[in-house]
Amino acid sequence: MTLDAQALKQAAAQAAIDYIEPWLTPDAVIGVGTGSTADLFIDLLCAKRDRFKAAVASSERTAKRLRDGGVAVLELDDVASMPVYVDGADEINAQGEMIKGGGGALTREKIVASVSERFVCIVDASKQVDVLGRFPLPIEVIPMAQAAIIRRCEALGGQASVRQGFVTDNGNVIVDVSGLSIRNAAELEARINHWPGVVTNGLFALEKADVALVASRGGVTKVEY
Ligand code: A5P
Repeated sequence: MTLDAQALKQAAAQAAIDYIEPWLTPDAVIGVGTGSTADLFIDLLCAKRDRFKAAVASSERTAKRLRDGGVAVLELDDVASMPVYVDGADEINAQGEMIKGGGGALTREKIVASVSERFVCIVDASKQVDVLGRFPLPIEVIPMAQAAIIRRCEALGGQASVRQGFVTDNGNVIVDVSGLSIRNAAELEARINHWPGVVTNGLFALEKADVALVASRGGVTKVEY
């Protein structure tokens, strides 16, 4: 990663800390995503650990980073709602629909986001696309279904393969699908999620971002959807 790319991620993370300031209250539980941009957000959030009650993590990796930084991590079962969920994305379009799961944490990310009132997406401008699909779409799959799911993806016109050497926090595999040009993300998200053996797919369109903080060399732009 170039220094410039790292600086942009840092700027997006800082903008997220500023954005969530009104929700950092003694009773607040914050939803926290996974990835290199989310890691930078976590480090800033840990510095404010005395301002809020706890966090819910979208992966084991994120839970460890939060705990190491002194933030209490709760199980989602113990939390009824969260004011914000902050996470990166692999792609985001002009409607706030995203592809996520490059780090393989898509299922827990989608679950934690669904219990949060606002999805705050933090990206650098290179993640913005007109049409989703240049980044391979990750699908979390129960292992015995992997060949069947690959065949279905290829029937859609994609090229699909199992991510090698990777097991999700839920004990499953990831099928990555490249070559898709996704013009109706909500429809495709629902369709793939109905295939037997799919846990979830990395399209976040049925529940998309509420706001994106997009970092570019000119500064950070807030986009509301
Ligand atoms: C993790 O599973 C992903 O959804 C990440 O949130 C996404 O891949 C963005 O990661 P980076 O911030 O590392 O690009």
